[in-house]
Amino acid sequence: MFPSSIYKDRRNRLRQEVHGGLIFFPGNQEVSFNYLANTYAFRQDSSFLYFFGQDQPDLAGVMDLDTGKDILFGNDVEISDIIWMGQQPSMKERSNNVGVADTRSMSELEGVLHQALSSGRKIHYLPPYRGETIIQISELLALPLAGVRNQASEELIRGVVKLRMKKDLLEIQEMENMVDVAWLMHTTAMKMARPGTIEKEIAGTIEGIALSQANGVSFPIILTINGQTLHNHYHGNILIPDRMLVVDAGAESEYHYASDITRTAPVGGEFSRRQKDIYAIVLAANLSAIKALKPGVPFRDIHLLAALEITRGLTALGIMKGNVDEAVSQGAHTMFFPHGLGHPIGLDVHDLEGLGENFVGYDKETERSKEFGLGFLRFGRKLQEHFVMTIEPGIYFIPELIDLWKAEGKHADFINYDVADTYRDFGGIRIEDNVLITDKGSRVLGKPIPKTVSEIEEVMAGS
Ligand code: GLY
Ligand code: MN
Repeated sequence: MFPSSIYKDRRNRLRQEVHGGLIFFPGNQEVSFNYLANTYAFRQDSSFLYFFGQDQPDLAGVMDLDTGKDILFGNDVEISDIIWMGQQPSMKERSNNVGVADTRSMSELEGVLHQALSSGRKIHYLPPYRGETIIQISELLALPLAGVRNQASEELIRGVVKLRMKKDLLEIQEMENMVDVAWLMHTTAMKMARPGTIEKEIAGTIEGIALSQANGVSFPIILTINGQTLHNHYHGNILIPDRMLVVDAGAESEYHYASDITRTAPVGGEFSRRQKDIYAIVLAANLSAIKALKPGVPFRDIHLLAALEITRGLTALGIMKGNVDEAVSQGAHTMFFPHGLGHPIGLDVHDLEGLGENFVGYDKETERSKEFGLGFLRFGRKLQEHFVMTIEPGIYFIPELIDLWKAEGKHADFINYDVADTYRDFGGIRIEDNVLITDKGSRVLGKPIPKTVSEIEEVMAGS
């Protein structure tokens, strides 16, 4: 946990953003997976962590915006809990650790909220994403289940987004450390990418690194020789020559900050000519996007810059054709680069996504596109200093998409379908880094992870 002054300061800054009433932050509860007592690994809600710091289930925080008082709700353990779980910090210690003077039992929460409701005061809460929390809010605030999400407070959402988007030095250090853990995960995966190895042998090994060096993975590992499937969680293939292994994986720190890194390596250790050609395009898109990052630039412009780089490269190889700017403005490149360039990262790997992507990534100035491809961009608005973003361009040859668009004659002025067809067994390439926006530009976080063809081949040769 950070020093208590950090949490106090965050709550005070939130007070400048939300006006009147109470803010109710429900902490997360344990969630069962196959019977009641067998629960998933506990993960605290990220906004609760940000403002109240406590990493245990069954807690709640309330901020009274009119009196300026905060309360931490939760129960002290009893002997029956101690027998199974050992002694736990008292609620008094917990609340002191995060600068909260008032602590009360969970049974008192309902009374505090009801009293506020009956005096006509507003209760602000964030949109819940778990069934357990939706039920809790429904019961405490006497709302129908179906109405809970849309009664969430927009004023609170905007305030929390404003604060959490800007990372301070302690948060950046956490994330930097997690990129260092990802360095070990990714270089280990590269060394293991030999023909005959099964994907899950590598996935299990690198998940073990995240568990032993950090607090586990920050999201389920994507590791596949079928990298044309963007989020491929199937790990049952045997590695074979001529394929590449896409590994999209990161670690989560003790305080729950994430890294999210993608590298693509050739099975066996040497890129073929064809793989090198496509790899060079994705790398150029990754590097030119990173170079263009700075405060004030809309992230959508950076996405489109990467799209131009990809289209230029594919046109030079004869896979695309025609005018590059025109092709990008019509979205022809989205057959090969269908997703967005990146997303904010922090306490959540897709930071703040649970609060609503459009509140996080768009504003009055930058509205979300409805087009295939650009519409998948999670974040389009202007960058600010202290944002941390992923930069993850990719090129994919998705046979089903090639067939569909070819049959429709879609973007036939810009796509050489006969040439694209010869890549249908190619797979995909993605290269992803985590990048801090600085006052004048950007800085890639963490120890550099092998990224060029020669750096990757060198690591693989040394295995
Ligand atoms: N790392 C997976 C994603 O960004 O969606
Ligand atoms: Mn990502």
